[in-house]
Amino acid sequence: MLKPSLKEARIRTKNDVVTKTSEYIVTEQLKTIGIGKKYYVKTYGCQMNEHDTENIKAILEDMSFTGTDNMEDADLILLNTCAIRENAHNKVFGMIGRVKTLKETKPNIIFGICGCMAQEEVVVDEILKKYKHVDIIFGTHNIYRLPMLIEERMLNDNLPEVEVYSIEGDVIENIPVKRDSKYKAWVNIMYGCDKFCTYCIVPYTRGKQRSREAKYILKEVNDLVKDGYKEVTLLGQNVNAYGKDLNNGYGMANLLEDVAKTGIERVRFVTSHPWDFTDEMIDVIKKYSNIMPYIHLPLQSGSSRILKLMGRRYTKESYLELVDKLKKALPNCSLTTDIIVGFPGETEEDFKETLDVVNKCKYDSAFTFIFSKRVGTPACRMQDDVSLETKNERLQQLNKLINKYSKEANDKYLGRVVPVLIEGNSEKNKDIMMGYTDTMKLVNVKCPKEDIGKIINVKITSVKTWSMDGEKC
Ligand code: 5AD
Ligand code: SF4
Repeated sequence: MLKPSLKEARIRTKNDVVTKTSEYIVTEQLKTIGIGKKYYVKTYGCQMNEHDTENIKAILEDMSFTGTDNMEDADLILLNTCAIRENAHNKVFGMIGRVKTLKETKPNIIFGICGCMAQEEVVVDEILKKYKHVDIIFGTHNIYRLPMLIEERMLNDNLPEVEVYSIEGDVIENIPVKRDSKYKAWVNIMYGCDKFCTYCIVPYTRGKQRSREAKYILKEVNDLVKDGYKEVTLLGQNVNAYGKDLNNGYGMANLLEDVAKTGIERVRFVTSHPWDFTDEMIDVIKKYSNIMPYIHLPLQSGSSRILKLMGRRYTKESYLELVDKLKKALPNCSLTTDIIVGFPGETEEDFKETLDVVNKCKYDSAFTFIFSKRVGTPACRMQDDVSLETKNERLQQLNKLINKYSKEANDKYLGRVVPVLIEGNSEKNKDIMMGYTDTMKLVNVKCPKEDIGKIINVKITSVKTWSMDGEKC
């Protein structure tokens, strides 16, 4: 049993990260272990987790398991968890309870927990103490070990199989992937984060920043182009810092340019930290029409005092300067953000500073959150003197303002013709298709289903706060 350790997760070693190309192994015996068995994976959290699930599904299919969307039918259930806020954490514990009931009638189900919560020492201790029906726990650094963990669990069903590395893992290049879409793909460019914003648990659950070598990223994108993919999203917790750990002078601006040169029709990247957004990056975005005019630039707070307490390394003024520079260089670019309200010690004045930045930036949309205490982070030990009522009021006030600007930004699209990558049927109406503009606006489109997977010109006929309607031109 290898349990996570918060103490070790805080450490940043000076060791060079090693790229390994043959670490993922499925033995002949393991290749057939899942014949006739079904798997169900439930994913919580960010795109990084969604993409990890695409790896997990491919690994399970390498072992001959087949997927099901119905948990009740499954022989193997995995929860790929998120630790970012308490509500994600609570949802997972609710699900652990549901699986317990299911296992009472189907005791042979293998039940596993992975992802960010599995990296948390307090969570794993609680699971081991109270939830004896959990069979496997593995973390974010050793997904490639899943076949061995399943085998070991099958051979020994007395104890749960727990294997969580706290010190960062290597970069493993041969993990298979079963992509959810045939048209757009996530591509990891780096793992982990070294920023240690004081509220954030990610540097502990995802470990030290480890960039993938560019040659592997570019091969992956070139293969996607050959397979007919239209869009890639380069993924990392802090993509602008790409390459800093490789010390070879090749950074995010170089990578963006090389990815654009592959000829893929759309390139996106998330998430940017304002600190590392360089002029070179802006120049590259401007130069290549296949780099999409869409930037997600988390603000977190508009108060320089709170930003300092958050450890964000920029001020209100320097953030606004960057936004100004981006808007001047990329006039058609849409801008979105993340904002936290109710950080410990946030006063009404601080909150007004946040509203002021929103009024100045006029974001296209924003993800807004109430501060959530995460065990092990510095902010967890700060005195949290803002009442829940005040936090809720601030969130509502903020959302109202954000929605006003979202609608205003969308209004500008009325009557315009915009390129939309058609992804499939709209959820609400099966006769209508849906897709996203270059600027990441959700559009419901009247067009034939043969257009799925194509980028078509759409005339916008009506706009709402979170979506628009349009017709094929
Ligand atoms: N509480 C509330 N929101 C958080 N985020 C990260 N950690 C916390 C926390 N402890 C938000 C940030 C980040 C987004 C992914 O989640 O806004 O950008
Ligand atoms: Fe968390 Fe800050 Fe790293 Fe983003 S940059 S993952 S908010 S520590």
